[in-house]
Amino acid sequence: MRKPLIAGNWKMNGSLALLETMKQALSSARVSSDVDVAIIPPFTLLMSAGKILAGSSAGIGAQTLHPESSGAYTGEISASMLAECGVRYVLVGHSERRTLFAEDDQAVLARVKAALGAGLVPVLCVGETLEERETDRVETVVLGQVSTVIDALSAEERSRLVIAYEPVWAIGTGRTATPDQAQQVHAMIRSWLSDKDLALGESMRLLYGGSMKADNAADLLSRPDIDGGLIGGASLKPDDFIAICHAAG
Ligand code: G3H
Repeated sequence: MRKPLIAGNWKMNGSLALLETMKQALSSARVSSDVDVAIIPPFTLLMSAGKILAGSSAGIGAQTLHPESSGAYTGEISASMLAECGVRYVLVGHSERRTLFAEDDQAVLARVKAALGAGLVPVLCVGETLEERETDRVETVVLGQVSTVIDALSAEERSRLVIAYEPVWAIGTGRTATPDQAQQVHAMIRSWLSDKDLALGESMRLLYGGSMKADNAADLLSRPDIDGGLIGGASLKPDDFIAICHAAG
């Protein structure tokens, strides 16, 4: 019913050579057409990614965007510029943007709206810190991040969103949420969405991110409310990334 999405967020890593290697790996891997795949490289590689991956099944994503469409914002990139590069997905609200670049929920919402306005698919990232988990605030924090965006969108806009649950304590730490922990939060998000709009809850793709790797992906992806993965470190290793894609389909 929900098509899995495996998205590789390269963060501030990667090169033209890695794009070429990834293309070859994807070409020979025969990833199921029942799985959507996205490569999310740094801005500087987006145009090349569009060309190099053109013959593959992978879509291209960007890691962030500016909410305004144009203007005197030195160093920033707008949604329409991304669309012109052939970008399909854009991450919004990644914890590294929230913490390192001070993007709060309103800044996240503005970026989601800009992405939707340009026809992009926003991947809304949400997740709690370790301290928030240890003080029983997972539900408040995660549903707060989700509701700020969902409640400000029309039904049609909501239907074009993807949500990624990324517990901050699991990102880049090697400490993955257990499948039960991840499933519990995904089920909570889906239940909240379903209470708002049953069709939305049933159709929303909920990705898990946080130290997902080739050897834990199948277990995570087997859970009923985990519809894919947002992969950081392992997406820089083509064989590992392909193994995760296979685990999804
Ligand atoms: O966007 C990806 C996430 O931040 C996960 O990164 O797989 O390196 O933990 P990671």
